[in-house]
Amino acid sequence: MQSSSIYTPMKTVISNTQQEANQALTHAFVALFQKIPQREVFIALSGGNTPQKLFDLWSEELKQTIDWSRVQLFWVDERCVPYNDDESNFKMTQWHLIRHLPLTDKQIHRIKGEDDPCKEATRYSNLIEERLPHRQGIPVFDFVLLGVGSDGHTASIFPKDNHRHKPDELGESKSEEACLNTPKWCSVTQKPDNGQYRITLTMPVINAANHVFVLVTGKEKAQIMNQVLNHTVLSRQYPISHVHGEHGDVTFFLDRLAAGYNNDTTSSRLT
Ligand code: 6PG
Repeated sequence: MQSSSIYTPMKTVISNTQQEANQALTHAFVALFQKIPQREVFIALSGGNTPQKLFDLWSEELKQTIDWSRVQLFWVDERCVPYNDDESNFKMTQWHLIRHLPLTDKQIHRIKGEDDPCKEATRYSNLIEERLPHRQGIPVFDFVLLGVGSDGHTASIFPKDNHRHKPDELGESKSEEACLNTPKWCSVTQKPDNGQYRITLTMPVINAANHVFVLVTGKEKAQIMNQVLNHTVLSRQYPISHVHGEHGDVTFFLDRLAAGYNNDTTSSRLT
């Protein structure tokens, strides 16, 4: 598979601990937020386990620092479960972040995991199309937070999806008839090990973002990150290797375990 993305230089911040990685990401987030002119700021958040502590930190430290009234909050992906299910990315974000912040319902744009996946992917794609500014026809998030699962997925684009699609189609719907007409900013995928349906932003809209931060912690991610950061041939199977930022920047925030270091380092460092 050909992809120009995987050789693009990217920034990597390696910290001693998960907590320091969260702090490094938070400082960078505040710095970029403060550079955005007075207007709405479009943010898309990932779910899973890794952001939970980050969101705890934001809810403590960023309550006053960020002008939350400017934020329009979206999700990178959602599991197709009810909003009050423990697997719901919305529920996790609500618990760890949203309930602590001065956000109104009009600022919160959740993916409705309880609805029909294909219809909801269409609705969410249309919402993004309508609400976000565009660059070269593609909606532009100011800030996208991504992670990498221990099975190598990013957003809800799974490694095996890479083999089924050309790079510029990554994350677009599989060929289930019901999803054939799903618009391009969102897609329905399935978690390979249990078949759970997911709704995800697709690679074109992720890559159009102004800033992409990728938070990866823990030693179970080290092998994948070693492939990804060294741009090995094997890394091409991982969707994160196809995140390159068409017009923006991509920064990885890792703790030393995810970066494959077993010894202590002294402080966060940029490579
Ligand atoms: C999801 C997430 C996903 C996440 C990675 C990392 O719903 O699965 O949005 O994209 O970023 O899977 O998840 P963990 O931190 O749980 O490993």
